[in-house]
Amino acid sequence: MQCDFILRGHVLSFQGSPFASAQPEAATRLYEAMAISDGKVAGLGTLAEMQALLPQADVIDHDTKLILAGFVDAHVHFPQTAIIASWGKRLIDWLNSYTFPEEMRFGDPGYAAEIANRYLDLTTANGTTTTCSFCTIHPESVDAFFTAAQARGQRVAAGKTCMDRNAPEGLRDTVQSAYDDSKALIERWHGVDRLEYAITPRFSPTSTPDQLAALGALWAEHPDCLMQTHLSEQVDEIEWVKSLFPQARDYLDTYEEFGLLGARGLYGHAIHLEERERHRLRDFGAALIHCPTSNTFIGSGLFDMGGLMAEGQRIGLATDTGGGSSFSMLRTMAAAYEVGQLRGRPLHAAELIWLATQGSARALRMEDKIGNIAPGMEADLVVLDLASTPAIAQRAARAEDLWEAVFPTLMMGDDRAITEVWINGQCV
Ligand code: GUN
Ligand code: ZN
Repeated sequence: MQCDFILRGHVLSFQGSPFASAQPEAATRLYEAMAISDGKVAGLGTLAEMQALLPQADVIDHDTKLILAGFVDAHVHFPQTAIIASWGKRLIDWLNSYTFPEEMRFGDPGYAAEIANRYLDLTTANGTTTTCSFCTIHPESVDAFFTAAQARGQRVAAGKTCMDRNAPEGLRDTVQSAYDDSKALIERWHGVDRLEYAITPRFSPTSTPDQLAALGALWAEHPDCLMQTHLSEQVDEIEWVKSLFPQARDYLDTYEEFGLLGARGLYGHAIHLEERERHRLRDFGAALIHCPTSNTFIGSGLFDMGGLMAEGQRIGLATDTGGGSSFSMLRTMAAAYEVGQLRGRPLHAAELIWLATQGSARALRMEDKIGNIAPGMEADLVVLDLASTPAIAQRAARAEDLWEAVFPTLMMGDDRAITEVWINGQCV
């Protein structure tokens, strides 16, 4: 099997966070070529340097195309693939009308496998190489997702969604079964190949305090697992949480009290945060996941990227399929830009790309393996055509530098801009 390759083009590598300096582009470096050996990035430099490094390697010439780390989508619900873009409801109505009836079907392993594969086909076509997914309450849905990702060599995280109240009959587990099923899934999947388990209480309204405590205990027993949930997405949701947990200081406290706040915790949405919540999230190094197409689609609110970054929060970017309205991280970057504008913080193209790659990889605590092109990193890549449609091409032709050439693809691009996707050192 051929395992050495050289890719020539515009190879983008981050040397640091573009949010850390007044000149975001200064955090990046462009190389003419990169070398891949045994699934990992072996080097970056000129074509001649890479050929000296790997003399036997095939050279694939991508000319002026942009070669990036594969996109990392830090918060998705793969079981909502078939109900994406369902019209017109607020969060709780949307869950009850579309989401819960669809999630009911995932006790059927055949259906779960069909949707898991459809989801991974769609996201791969959009240049996404890693996702962190909620499954359903059925362990079969987790087996289906990990089985499909494993067969494709993908690095993913996922977990069984736990709910023991405020969900319909057929979609509720119990304190004990949530703990037992999650534990068995950790033992079956966590750390196998490129798969990681995320302990997954859906959100505090659908778990009793006892279930949250059991999952907190499970996390303490398996501290190398991730933990994912939702936090402060809609104002009426927050009121509901406060009525269900009258002792809690705020929404985050309903997790913190039960051992569900930590550095490997991922908190989706995190829009309407109180001062204490922001301090605690930052002190723990927990990850906030920005889901801009979902937040506008379900009408949740405008994430405070400028303020949260300035106070040093760890932030990832995500589609939130199917509350979000797209599988594409390009479309998601466009929405993040638009939301930033509405909050007075226009994001630079380098910041958007960083969020969709290294930012999300940092959120998932995988930044030593994925999310950047650098020696030793796993070779998950996307090759972007910066002139994929006539409208984009004519704008890019006017560009005076790379960032001006990239930006129209971030704003207007879709799966037509994705020329090639590499997973674990293989072109797929
Ligand atoms: N809060 C609890 N569950 C969900 C979900 O499935 N989607 C979104 N957007 N928010 C949630
Ligand atoms: Zn979600």
